[in-house]
Amino acid sequence: MALRIPEAKDVTRKKVLVRVDFNVPIKDGMVMDDTRIKAHLETLRFLKENGSFITLISHLGRPKEGRDPEFSLKPVAEYLSSLTGWKVNFVPDCIGEAVEEAVALQLQDEILVLENVRFYKEETKNDPSFAEKLAKPFEVFVMDAFSAAHRAHASTRGVADYLKSFAGFLIKKEIESLSVVRDNPTHPYVLILGGAKVSDKIGVIENLLPKVDHILIGGGMAYTFLKAKGHGIGKSLCEEDKIEYANELISLSQDKGVKIHLPLDCVVAPEAKADVSTIVIDTETSIPDDMMGLDIGPKTIKAFCEVIKEAKTIFWNGPMGVFELEPFRSGTEKMAIAVADVAKKGGYAVVGGGDTAAAVNMFGLSDQMTHVSTGGGASLEFMEGKMLPGIEPLLD
Ligand code: 3PG
Repeated sequence: MALRIPEAKDVTRKKVLVRVDFNVPIKDGMVMDDTRIKAHLETLRFLKENGSFITLISHLGRPKEGRDPEFSLKPVAEYLSSLTGWKVNFVPDCIGEAVEEAVALQLQDEILVLENVRFYKEETKNDPSFAEKLAKPFEVFVMDAFSAAHRAHASTRGVADYLKSFAGFLIKKEIESLSVVRDNPTHPYVLILGGAKVSDKIGVIENLLPKVDHILIGGGMAYTFLKAKGHGIGKSLCEEDKIEYANELISLSQDKGVKIHLPLDCVVAPEAKADVSTIVIDTETSIPDDMMGLDIGPKTIKAFCEVIKEAKTIFWNGPMGVFELEPFRSGTEKMAIAVADVAKKGGYAVVGGGDTAAAVNMFGLSDQMTHVSTGGGASLEFMEGKMLPGIEPLLD
């Protein structure tokens, strides 16, 4: 995939609009996780070093109706300034006079952060006249928001129709890393899937099935597969309408020589609570009707780690259990350690964004992976083989 990457001549002394993804968790006006902010610094440094006039645009959350202070990007602008020591000015709008004036008066060492673009309903509709308004004060567009590139919105896709557009360095890094695990894996290739739903992962399974050697399945989605194989799963998560699909996948993978590994045991409890008492049950034995599986058990951890140890390529999307709660953390944590070990030994280990990235972050292992994607939905859609609307206009 040949992306158009900006060179110095494309951006020097130009008014550059950069689409970032500052959709970060905020509590009481404080940024709680700055991973996504830091991920854009390479692009911002490049633009600064080349004398661009930089303006950042982003969404934050999913505000329902117009302006809502809870979803303002002001705290993120302040955070960016304290993180970098750069002069950052917040503009309380993203189109119109306030922006035009701020851009006209902008000093070269000053970064402008515009207000949440989703305060306008035209954004998510990819309204062309809104996209034109977004573009108006600028000369160049740099799209760096990989994690929002699966959205065909005005600030991710529409604006590229009105400005010369380039891919930022975060997009470049994401596409390069995810392309290795999607298109050019070294074998053995192990796909690790977890999270709540089978339905979220069908596209990825179908696209990767011809390329992988093993699929390890944990998390809530594993119980649909266990039920398909005739195991009693108590009140564990289950997508009844995907049981048939699970059976088809098991036999299809056998035909293709791909080994699907399901949990051998799991940690069960009456509910997902931090102070609940738990037991480990072999999946051969039915989970009692009033209990649910909330993590993979020790036998499964051992078996999954044996497979991971031999891998040369890994793509991991979805936690093995409710890792946010201590009693159900172990499966996800042990997988994270095993995956990081493969990366340390020179294997190619990529972690999809969203919950899996949050888990790996929590265990302090992000730096040890080959790549941790900033995009949850975007990385899944990319791995499904889809062309992301925010990427398409950046191709040479
Ligand atoms: C994300 O958090 O996955 C991105 O910022 C996209 O957000 P959205 O799902 O609200 O479009």
